[in-house]
Order: sequence, then C-alpha cells, then structure tokens
Amino acid sequence: MTENTVKTRVMLLFGGRSGEHMISCATASAVMAAIDRERFEVVPVGITLEGQWVPALDDPQHYALKDGEGAFVEAQGTQVAFLAGTNRLVEFSASNPEVFKDLGEVDVVFPLLHGPFGEDGTIQGLLDTADVRYVGCGLTASAAGMDKHLTKTIIQQAGIPVGRWELITDRQWLQDREGCLERIKALGEVVFVKPNRAGSSVGITRVADFTQLEAAVEEARRHDPRVIVEAATPGRELECGVLEFLDGPRASAVGEITVSGADFYDFETKYQDPDAVSLSIPADIPEGVRMRLQEAAVKVFDALGCEGLSRVDFFYNEETDELSLNEINTMPGFTPFSMYPTMWQQQGLSYPELVTHLIDMALTRRVGLR
Ligand SMILES: Nc1ncnc2c1ncn2[C@@H]1O[C@H](COP(=O)(O)OP(=O)(O)O)[C@@H](O)[C@H]1O
Ligand SMILES: [Mg+2]
Repeated sequence: MTENTVKTRVMLLFGGRSGEHMISCATASAVMAAIDRERFEVVPVGITLEGQWVPALDDPQHYALKDGEGAFVEAQGTQVAFLAGTNRLVEFSASNPEVFKDLGEVDVVFPLLHGPFGEDGTIQGLLDTADVRYVGCGLTASAAGMDKHLTKTIIQQAGIPVGRWELITDRQWLQDREGCLERIKALGEVVFVKPNRAGSSVGITRVADFTQLEAAVEEARRHDPRVIVEAATPGRELECGVLEFLDGPRASAVGEITVSGADFYDFETKYQDPDAVSLSIPADIPEGVRMRLQEAAVKVFDALGCEGLSRVDFFYNEETDELSLNEINTMPGFTPFSMYPTMWQQQGLSYPELVTHLIDMALTRRVGLR
C-alpha cells in the first residue's frame, strides 16, 4: 500500500446509555488495538451515560478494563454530531459557538454498543437518516432482536420452537394486575421474569415461589415498562455465531455456557464472577445436534432480516432432543475473549480479521432501504 492511499475512515461509536456502557468501552479498547491501521483510519466517538456524543481518545489503554474496573466516556467541553442528512461529522461547543470544527466525512460507523439506545435500532435509524453505512444489523432487525416478545413472535412464525411466554404491558399491569398474575401462573411452576428490552441479565429474576412474583415484575419494570415472563426451559445453553459473507450468512462453531454456583447466567456471573461460568467451544454435542443448531441459527438470522453479525442463543433439552430459541443478540459481546469472536477464531478467523471482514461487509451495502 502506498503512502498516499486514502484510508477508509471508520468511526468507532462506543459507551452509550445502557447498563453495558463499560463493556462497550472495553470492546472499543480491543477494537482500537486490533483494527488494521494500514487500511483504516479510526475516528473514535464516545457516547456518555447521559447520551451526549463526544470526541473520544484513540487510546486502547484508556478504555480497557483494569482489574475488573471499567472505563467511562467522560463529558467534554465539546460534542460531535453528524450534520443532518450527511455523513459529515462536526465538533462544536454548545456553550461557545466560536468552536465549530469539521471532522470530515465518515465512510462507515462501527457501533460497538450493547443494549437499549445502541443495539435496539435507535442508533441504526439515526445513521440511516444521515446516509451513513454501519456495521451490523439495520433498524428493523436491531429493534426486533432487542425486543424479546417480538423476537419470539417472529421466530415462532418462522417455524423454530420457542418456549411459552406472556407479555405484560404497562397498562395491563396497572389496570389488571390479577389478570396478569393469572396468565403468568399458567406458564408453570418456575418462570423467568425479564425486562422485555435489556441485556446482560439486568432486571431478570428466576421465580419458583409465586409470592415473589410481584416483586420480580416490579424489578423488571425498573428497566422496561414492558415485561416478559417465560416458562423455565430445562436444558443446556448453546450459542451459535452467525456472520454474513458476500454469498450469505454462515454459522460458526457452537459454544456452550455452563454456570456453577448460580441458578442461571445472571448479571453477577456474567461480569463479577467469571470463575462461575465456563464457555466450551466447540460444545461437546452430537454432530447431528450441531448441524440442526447451525441451520436454525441461520434461519433465525434470516427471519429477522439480520445483517453483518448476530449471536443466536438456544436451549437444548437432551431428554426430548429439542432445541428452542432463547434470544438473539445483534451486537453480541465483542471483546477478544467473548463468545462470538472466540467462536470465529475456532473457524480460523482471527479477531483483527473479523473486524476487517465486518467493516468490508458494511462497505458493500447501500445506504437507504436495502
Ligand atoms: N426461559 C428460560 N428458561 C431457563 N433459563 C432461562 C430462561 N430465560 C433466561 N434464562 C437464563 O437467564 C439467562 C439470561 O437470560 P437472557 O434472556 O439470555 O437475558 P439477556 O438478554 O440479559 O442475556 C440465560 O442465559 C439463562 O441462563
Ligand atoms: Mg442472554
């Protein structure tokens, strides 16, 4: 590559308003360290917990997890934004109109964001209105994938088994609590109560004693006025990565999550007690199950209209030999140690290669409806 070759300008967008802010910063740190600097110029933009877009540092160390402590995107004197309807990024100061800097055009955005206001279609819609290409799923798939009730509705329609569930809306809970509780109790003896749109297991309670049901619903409602309650599905937790190539999506190796010392894969196990969980990649499962699961994962990806990447999570009941969908993550954990990149590593695609591939796929897409 010659000196004056123009590099592709990649805006790394990270932090964000969700509970997964620090994980997002850790991911940004890893991507900054791994991205191919010969081909890509990095434009780092952070989103503070309050939702301000600010110029960020191009410094992997700054955003890394250190001794389990994460970094935050800090508010600055200036903010950045796309000029409405364009892919031109500008920096400005709300309090000092003298400051107005043109940061140039961005070729592609890599949204390294998890959870609401990042993985749920809101950022994707904003980028669509600016005619900017971005890595990963578009508005509709992101929104449907974040919404557990919508995901299950669409996936069931596509012929993939999902466990029984009930959606409890804000109005139903406030106006007909008895009716809600009746519906929940009909699901079985053990249920999972969850915010309908969240991640990292925040706000999720496993309820085996129905005197705790109302408290569990209230806890989920702290995160989302729409609550989903699911029948507990017995079985192993198997996950499969899906990655889009020019000729279509392909499934990765299958991974398994095993949790010890906790009832389920809860927030603490995910982030505070790494010893309690083990990831096995590839999972020790019969060939036939692996193939069925990989096929189902690609089917889920297509049914939701996903693009770029997703991780599809299943339960596998060995006694009945049944696979059922748990959920889909359109921006799965993406540090080099996370399940998704490790699954692709197994298939011979290194972390830097995965980053390059995702950016290249995003660049092949058109803007607008696709
Ligand atoms: N219906 C269910 N039956 C059994 N276990 C469940 C069920 N729903 C969730 N779990 C457990 O809770 C964890 C978190 O639930 P999940 O829906 O994946 O939430 P999140 O989107 O926060 O990752 C799962 O990994 C699994 O261990
Ligand atoms: Mg999950």
